[in-house]
Amino acid sequence: MEKLIGRNLNISVFISGRGSNLLSLIKYSKIKKSKIKINLIITNNKFSKGLEFAKKNKIKNYIINYSKKKEAEHKILEYLRKNKIDLICLAGFMKILSSSFIKKFKNPILNIHPSLLPRYKGLNTHRRAIENKDKFSGATVHFVTPKLDSGKIILQKKVRILKSDTEKTLAKKVLKIEHKLYPSAIEKILKKSSF
Ligand code: GRF
Repeated sequence: MEKLIGRNLNISVFISGRGSNLLSLIKYSKIKKSKIKINLIITNNKFSKGLEFAKKNKIKNYIINYSKKKEAEHKILEYLRKNKIDLICLAGFMKILSSSFIKKFKNPILNIHPSLLPRYKGLNTHRRAIENKDKFSGATVHFVTPKLDSGKIILQKKVRILKSDTEKTLAKKVLKIEHKLYPSAIEKILKKSSF
């Protein structure tokens, strides 16, 4: 971690779908004070809407055939190495990285999750929060470990759940805070020297 402090970071963002968090990271990388560069986008889904943002911003992108996971991860590791990637940001990437991949990459891997972890690991977070009549939901950026949605938390932000909220309205509110949270979490790890 220490070796990342005080210099520009080469980031690879992994996506599977819409890519709105990818877009927020691209926008953040373009502001003057930003210390990050998005060099590489990886997706397992050729229909991923987020690929449009990659193309529009001329960012190298690869569609990886995930039918054989071992081969897919091997290929990804090669691209990461070739592009000197310091940090991976998972942003709606719907594949689980193997522990061997995490170990081999060596640098940090971050993920953004639409709940206040450790509550609601996995899918359907908004539905579960509403069903449980929670007063708050939110989003979490955390380090990725082999255990799903369980790595050390970097940053979290809450939103209030109103009685009138549906899964859809809550998802919209949470997504809005996600777009600020991911860049802030990266800023935070760039300032800190140990985790
Ligand atoms: C986000 O809600 C993120 O928290 C979750 O997947 C969704 C991805 O959305 N991991 P997008 O593709 O970034 O728009």
